[in-house]
Amino acid sequence: MQRILVTGGCGFIGSEFIRRQLATYDDVTIVNLDALTYAGNVENLAEIERHARYEFHKGDIADRDLVMRLLAGNPFDAVVNFAAESHVDRSLLDSGPFVRTNVVGTQVLLDACREAKVPRYVQVSTDEVYGSLGPTGLFTEETPLAPNSPYSASKAAADMLVHAYHHSFHFPAIITRCSNNYGPYQFPEKLLPLFITNLLANEQVPVYGSGQNVRDWIHVSDHCRGIDAALRRGKVGEVYNFGGRCEKTNLEITHLLLELLEKPKTLIRYVADRPGHDLRYAIDCSKAERELGWNPEVTFSEGLRSTIDWYRANSGWVSRVKSGEYRRYYTEQYGARLT
Ligand code: NAD
Ligand code: DAU
Repeated sequence: MQRILVTGGCGFIGSEFIRRQLATYDDVTIVNLDALTYAGNVENLAEIERHARYEFHKGDIADRDLVMRLLAGNPFDAVVNFAAESHVDRSLLDSGPFVRTNVVGTQVLLDACREAKVPRYVQVSTDEVYGSLGPTGLFTEETPLAPNSPYSASKAAADMLVHAYHHSFHFPAIITRCSNNYGPYQFPEKLLPLFITNLLANEQVPVYGSGQNVRDWIHVSDHCRGIDAALRRGKVGEVYNFGGRCEKTNLEITHLLLELLEKPKTLIRYVADRPGHDLRYAIDCSKAERELGWNPEVTFSEGLRSTIDWYRANSGWVSRVKSGEYRRYYTEQYGARLT
């Protein structure tokens, strides 16, 4: 039996990871530690919330006493750290929560894991730590870190702490860095869920600047298969990049969505650019393919269609998230049952 502590499991990617772990392995127990910030939604895990091998703790990874207690009282075979403030635009408005969760939270987790002698730790990081590319080239695991936004700076700081703990203390850590994820349950502040849900409601979509910025898109299920491969087969001390080999400009994505949803181009609204907007991200994921036997499986056209279908079929989830009502669901559903 493997006990895995997942942090940030009520978010977009962490919830996919937990659902997949429980469905794929009979011998895995998941303990989920999540602070339930605006991005954390227990409804994302409604289908497994009463699963015999699932346990939820509401709590902050930066709360040293709580994390020390949780780790000391529980033998874990692995810790996978998804918990983060994850939205670049929010980090430009206020970097405080990003430093607290992404940097201090990671430090606290590392200390608690060291003390409890956790044998394996995976830090879920991002390609944004590498900065921005020009029109050509790819990020490899050797690309120097050059983060540009407060979000990516906080993620890079966390990666450096993880590296330093491995280097100094032989702490058994692995870092994964992935490109832009899309799929079900993504909070509708990020490009794809924001644009899909706006267009379904016949509302305009705000394209930053010229719309020529490029991102490499990967379905969340492929990312989670990659994290699982790194957790089980990755070499301690290594970094693994994951990407979808699917570069698209934001305008290409916007036109594709308009076509698939049969909406007019008049719904495009060009707005002021994001300050310091990174031009292009593109990932070389050949190391993960070679060393972990992983590769992205979901094509963008198939993944985008199924994502649109999911948002269409889950209009209740969308409206509860957009109205903030999902927070009431948490109180009603769990009340005083949670720590
Ligand atoms: P998300 O914003 O959807 O979810 C973050 C989760 O972390 C939420 O459930 C939130 O409640 C929880 N959380 C936040 N602060 C916390 C704290 N202090 N203590 C405990 N829990 C806390 O994020 P996501 O898109 O699922 O991203 C998950 C991870 O993957 C992040 O580390 C992010 O940097 C990384 N990542 C994301 C992408 C992407 O495209 N979304 C790509 C690469 C890497
Ligand atoms: O690359 C991995 C990263 O991808 C993750 O580490 C982050 O957590 C995740 O949020 C994402 O960051 P981006 O900034 O690339 O994602 P976002 O969806 O915010 O924006 C994608 C692109 O779309 C970017 O070029 C900005 C643009 N955009 C975004 C929004 C929200 C718009 O043009 N309009 C918008 O309203």
